[in-house]
Amino acid sequence: MKILNSTALVTGANRGIGRELVVALLKSGAKRVYAGARDVKTLETIKQLDPARVIPLLLDVTNQELIDTSVKVAPDVNLLFNNAGILEFGGILEVPADKIVRQFGTNFHGKLNMARAFAPIIEANGGGAIVNVLTLVALASMPGLSAYNASKAAAWSMTQSLRAALSAKGIAVFGVFPGAVDTDMLAGVDMPKTSPAVIAAAIMQGIESGLEDIFPDPMSTQLYAAWKLDHKAVEKQFATM
Ligand SMILES: NC(=O)c1ccc[n+]([C@@H]2O[C@H](COP(=O)([O-])OP(=O)(O)OC[C@H]3O[C@@H](n4cnc5c(N)ncnc54)[C@H](OP(=O)(O)O)[C@@H]3O)[C@@H](O)[C@H]2O)c1
Repeated sequence: MKILNSTALVTGANRGIGRELVVALLKSGAKRVYAGARDVKTLETIKQLDPARVIPLLLDVTNQELIDTSVKVAPDVNLLFNNAGILEFGGILEVPADKIVRQFGTNFHGKLNMARAFAPIIEANGGGAIVNVLTLVALASMPGLSAYNASKAAAWSMTQSLRAALSAKGIAVFGVFPGAVDTDMLAGVDMPKTSPAVIAAAIMQGIESGLEDIFPDPMSTQLYAAWKLDHKAVEKQFATM
């Protein structure tokens, strides 16, 4: 899939990895980028990056009405970035039920509902790609992020189902598995993190080279290699973190 002249839509584009995806898409020659956010006022500086190519879009991925509207507003999309996500800390026996529902609502159902809405659009536009931003902890659970891990592991499984369902329609489906990234999401956690600009650049490179599973930083690359060798060892390592 070529980024040059593509028309992209990025969810959660107002900050963090989403914002850097917009920057990287512009740099790679995308024709137009719909930048989705729950509050369009937060997109003003992103719009200024390239007012002719960046189109702000009101989009909460948990709101089906707004998803349906976005399909009408952005009928030329051929590259969807399912980036929006939330993380709420808590162990599996303590995390409140409403937090579990909220994380699955955004991280699983939000991505799935966007994919269902845009797959026919992308197909009608001659094919393209859907990129699901998952996480390294979809592979093995970090117990302090229990509901987040679970919602992203479910989204990984959904990514594989989408891939099988959409390959004959000319739509590639990518999964992205970042390690720790330096955004608001992990602001309170003191550990080595990769910049979101590096993550976004690696995602562009992965898409261009047709890499279905993208490990976009040193932490994710190393741990994926370890997981392939001995996934139980990685599970045990994460269990102590
Ligand atoms: N940071 C990390 O270490 C890390 C590692 C692996 C994977 N990821 C994944 O990368 C993606 C981006 O995360 P980030 O690090 O950039 O986090 P972030 O800085 O917290 O940004 C999250 C983005 O998602 C948006 N969002 C949340 N709920 C939404 C909803 N219902 N509808 C639309 N937008 C919504 C937020 O919008 P508002 O401004 O309106 O809240 C924000 O733009 C997420 O899927 C996350 O799980 C992050």
